[in-house]
Amino acid sequence: MKAGLIGHPVAQSKSPIIHEYWMKQFNIEGKYELFDVEDMHLEALVKQLVTQGYDGFNVTVPHKENIIPLCKTIDSNAKKIGAVNMVHIQDGALYGYNTDVAGFIQNLKQSIIDFNMTGKTALVLGAGGAARAVIQGLKNEGINKIYLTNRTREKADILQQNFGSNVEVIDWDERESKNNEINLLVNTTSLGMVNKPSLIFDLNGLKKDAIVHDIIYNPLMTDLLRQAEERGLKVITGIGMLLYQAAPSFALWTGITPSVTLDLTNLVLR
Ligand code: ATR
Repeated sequence: MKAGLIGHPVAQSKSPIIHEYWMKQFNIEGKYELFDVEDMHLEALVKQLVTQGYDGFNVTVPHKENIIPLCKTIDSNAKKIGAVNMVHIQDGALYGYNTDVAGFIQNLKQSIIDFNMTGKTALVLGAGGAARAVIQGLKNEGINKIYLTNRTREKADILQQNFGSNVEVIDWDERESKNNEINLLVNTTSLGMVNKPSLIFDLNGLKKDAIVHDIIYNPLMTDLLRQAEERGLKVITGIGMLLYQAAPSFALWTGITPSVTLDLTNLVLR
């Protein structure tokens, strides 16, 4: 397997650990490299990878949108959210995918017994790229209603226009006002990440069976998740989404569908 990750920055990425673990497990020779490039060098790098016979690559910030014009086709999730995070190279052409959407949902399905979003309501915090993937995933699963809130309201309004009528924007200052309605809370902001300010969110009034999901994985247990756990709420950390978005990349590049195991999770968290 010849693959890698294109982004800026990429040095802190956990993806090499994940793909190297699977390569070892399945006795596949190869490498997963990190390519730190700025916008102006993206196209040249991609051409080089094609020439050198790479199977594909992952794409992260800030290139998830700019890679799209370089792709021959992109899958429906990538189209809907306007972001590609994985490319499969076949016969010299680039095929773009978004595996963040499925990664988010796969992880929920593994974490929640009897996962079923029909008739449910979610609150999504944040309106960046991760929020788009989360909203698309929830919509694919037939969720009834999504409340969306973001410090910069205009960004949330733009997402609302893209995603349609079952998404309703609420003011950031009013972010706790729907607590009694929501079944799932998802933090997609960077608040709570290591070296970032904490997320202030009062969990009062949440349903007893509400699920609190933070897509941050460093730290694994954010303040939000700690507080949720103290209240006896079900919590989901961010590590699963990372692992489940990686699996379909490996599967397309190698033809082998890998599993997300506890052993791998522990390795990535070390
Ligand atoms: P990603 O693409 O990974 O989702 P991003 O686009 O940088 O990352 O989004 C970061 C999110 O965290 C945004 O929703 C951002 O809010 P703004 O759109 O108002 O910038 C949110 N965020 C970051 N710092 C924040 C802060 N101090 N308070 C509230 N929200 C914050």
